[in-house]
Amino acid sequence: MLNTLKPQPADKILELMALYREDPRDTKIDLGVGVYKDASGNTPIMRAVKAAEKQLWANETTKSYTALSGDPAFGAAMKSLVLAGSVDHARVGAIATPGGTGAIRQAFELMKLANPEGTVWTSNPTWPNHLSILKFMGMNNKEYAYFDAATCTVDFDAMMDSLKGVQAGDMVLLHGCCHNPTGANLTLDQFGAVADLLVEKGAIALVDIAYQGFGDGLEEDAAATRLLATKLPEMLIAASCSKNFGIYRERAGCLMAMSETAENTAVTQGTLNFLNRQNYSFPPDHGARLVTMILNDEVLKADWMAELEEVRLGMLGLRTQLAEELRKQTNSDRFDFVAQHRGMFSRIGATPEEVMQIRKDFGIYMVGDSRLNIAGLNADTVPLLATAVAKTCK
Ligand code: LMR
Repeated sequence: MLNTLKPQPADKILELMALYREDPRDTKIDLGVGVYKDASGNTPIMRAVKAAEKQLWANETTKSYTALSGDPAFGAAMKSLVLAGSVDHARVGAIATPGGTGAIRQAFELMKLANPEGTVWTSNPTWPNHLSILKFMGMNNKEYAYFDAATCTVDFDAMMDSLKGVQAGDMVLLHGCCHNPTGANLTLDQFGAVADLLVEKGAIALVDIAYQGFGDGLEEDAAATRLLATKLPEMLIAASCSKNFGIYRERAGCLMAMSETAENTAVTQGTLNFLNRQNYSFPPDHGARLVTMILNDEVLKADWMAELEEVRLGMLGLRTQLAEELRKQTNSDRFDFVAQHRGMFSRIGATPEEVMQIRKDFGIYMVGDSRLNIAGLNADTVPLLATAVAKTCK
């Protein structure tokens, strides 16, 4: 059997990690994979995570199974973090998943169960793994217009125009904040207009919220998701704890499913549990438990929020510096959008050839679509990137 296998296409983002590692130049700069790095290039373990791990080590008495949903306390804590008081939590089922990607996968599985012929609509562009998973699962996928490559901002009119094609029972995948890969986001009013359209069409929203706290703040970044929750009868939310808790390798994520009424929640929750059982049985617990401990402990939570805010402000500072440096070096306002974008990423509008040229000439690694990870920069490397862009981009 194994000799019938064909090589699979490499994931563009993960492939870039390997290319970077192999580059012998010590001046190289990694702006590829979406992992936060501090000014010295480390991905630190957050203070509250370390403290929670210490408490857990001292107090945990068993490693026996939890529940198929994961510990219900995790689901409750995530509902509070993401949805706050926007909706009656009794309407929302939740399962722990292996990372945000696990939540996305389970959301698609749910769609496959409920409406296998339906179409999942994704923004053009979106995180490439959304498309890859949909293709692998054999699901129908259509793109809606999103990014205006000329201005590097959202083309909202084009987006609404393409969403006119959405049919009842379709799923529309929205990035709750910090759009990946572009960094260009809808305003709250625009999210409201999208919600109205989805209600009119009878479509379900799947909100991918992988970077809460990396854009405008923990509450601000959840505002769109909360608004959608107040307007839509049903929706799904795939949340990741990888980035905002810095626990990438622990694989902690959560799929939330908001039903029309609290009476429907039992069946929704049962279906989510069933999907966990079919795909991997019990979800990972360690990362989810740390998150639960932090969110339920005032002192740990305050420290986590303070550190997350430092991270966010650091990235915002780098954005401002980069926009200013590009203004200086290109003698134009062409790249001012970098300061307006939010989250870890900006798509800066270089062609694939220019991206390759920058890699070759300057050892600066960004994804082929010109997505760069702001957190891969520091105050010293911002001018180097600006020089590379100014010298290479037409
Ligand atoms: C990214 O977009 O770089 C991150 O979400 C990491 C990944 O798994 O691709």
